[in-house]
Amino acid sequence: MDHYIVKGGNSLSGEVEIAGAKNAALGILAASVMTNETVTIENIPDVSDIRAILKAIQMIGAHVEKVDRHCYRINGSMISRGSAVDNDYVRKIRGSYYLIGALLGKHRCASVALPGGCNIGLRPIDQHIKGFRALGADVSLVSPGMVVAEAEVLRGSHIYMDVVSVGATINIMMASVMAVGQTIIENAAKEPHVVDVANFLNSMGANIKGAGTDTIRIRGVERLHGTNYSIIPDQIEAGTFMFAAAATRGDVTIRNVIPKHLESLSAKLKEIGCQIHESDDELRVVATRRLGATNVKTLPYPGFPTDMQPQIAVLLGLSRGVSIVTESIFENRFKYVDELIKMGAHVTVEGNTAIIDGVEKYTGARLSSPDLRAGAALVTAALAAEGFSEVHEIHYIERGYEDFPEKLRRLGAEIEIIETEEEKRKFMFRVG
Ligand code: EPZ
Repeated sequence: MDHYIVKGGNSLSGEVEIAGAKNAALGILAASVMTNETVTIENIPDVSDIRAILKAIQMIGAHVEKVDRHCYRINGSMISRGSAVDNDYVRKIRGSYYLIGALLGKHRCASVALPGGCNIGLRPIDQHIKGFRALGADVSLVSPGMVVAEAEVLRGSHIYMDVVSVGATINIMMASVMAVGQTIIENAAKEPHVVDVANFLNSMGANIKGAGTDTIRIRGVERLHGTNYSIIPDQIEAGTFMFAAAATRGDVTIRNVIPKHLESLSAKLKEIGCQIHESDDELRVVATRRLGATNVKTLPYPGFPTDMQPQIAVLLGLSRGVSIVTESIFENRFKYVDELIKMGAHVTVEGNTAIIDGVEKYTGARLSSPDLRAGAALVTAALAAEGFSEVHEIHYIERGYEDFPEKLRRLGAEIEIIETEEEKRKFMFRVG
């Protein structure tokens, strides 16, 4: 199987361009089929989760035209009401649950296979279902693993979310944009991608106010129309490069970002001793010495993102002193710790807390990615480590990072995708 081989020890330096946000694109591509007119979407990241949702909507009847690597034209007029959305692509990715909200909103009827995605916890969808029901839909779970939601009429409702959920907020927004009357979502998620999906829907004629705050108000409209839209930059890809720069004591300018979206990350990096220089759509991270320890707890936006928890743990594993990382969103997000321990890290996990006693250096090891973000974090550890590492199960990383090894190579990293022992020998011979 393909895997990465990495020779660690180089400080990353130079510039890296960030792709469009995967988690915004998943919602936006699902929402794109809600109109019968054509929509053109730019800045779509070329990663496997996105290729999967594009295939999924194509297989249920959408016309999907690739304009270029990052731009697609989509027309959902041929998606028939009532047809079951179940194919290998739908079951592969978590984001396919957005087709429930999109098709329920459009046709008042959706029958969608239950989502897959990274195994980082239980990941229930009770809040999505609660929202659909509040709008008047009958929702049932039928075997084999299908969610069926139907309504005669969808009526706006006042919905209080019991947990702050990105997926449920986006799904309920989509289901309610063409409902009769007003919907209010309280305790809504405020992540940048929630706002991006709302902006996209508004560009199609929806009337959504307050996205990015705790309370989102949606006034139902009769129909949605075509639009041209460009997706925001990926905050987590940007963060991953920020932390990789810091872990390798590098100097990296991260381009095509919205610095505001990265504030919780910049603040932590500054706190432990990095320099951060911000401009309009760029952010430069400079680390010249061993960084300090800190404590961090993952929280919904604008708190520190769970999707950056493994990356900060890798960095703190090399910092001076003891740090505590608390995961408060997903219960199964420390699976990478055993891999990090193989590299010499001193980490103990107790429940949802990792206690990290920083070491001077990691040493290269054979590593396996347990999920998308942890996989990227292990690559960061390998880049900072002494000697050679292999990172396996890279299909996880490919779900969400476009051209990851290429971008790292342009920053001076020694990393390649290989399959065979022969390729490994060649790499080791070349980099010495
Ligand atoms: C989204 O997942 C992202 N996925 C995740 O990114 C991200 O980690 C997560 O939001 C948190 O930011 C996509 O956008 C496709 P949630 P989602 O609903 O929507 C609980 C990555 O690496 N909950 O905000 O599934 C849930 O168990 C991925 O790119 C319920 O209890 O997350 C969790 O504890 C991984 N009931 C918390 O809420 C529900 O109905 C937040 O989950 C829904 C969620």
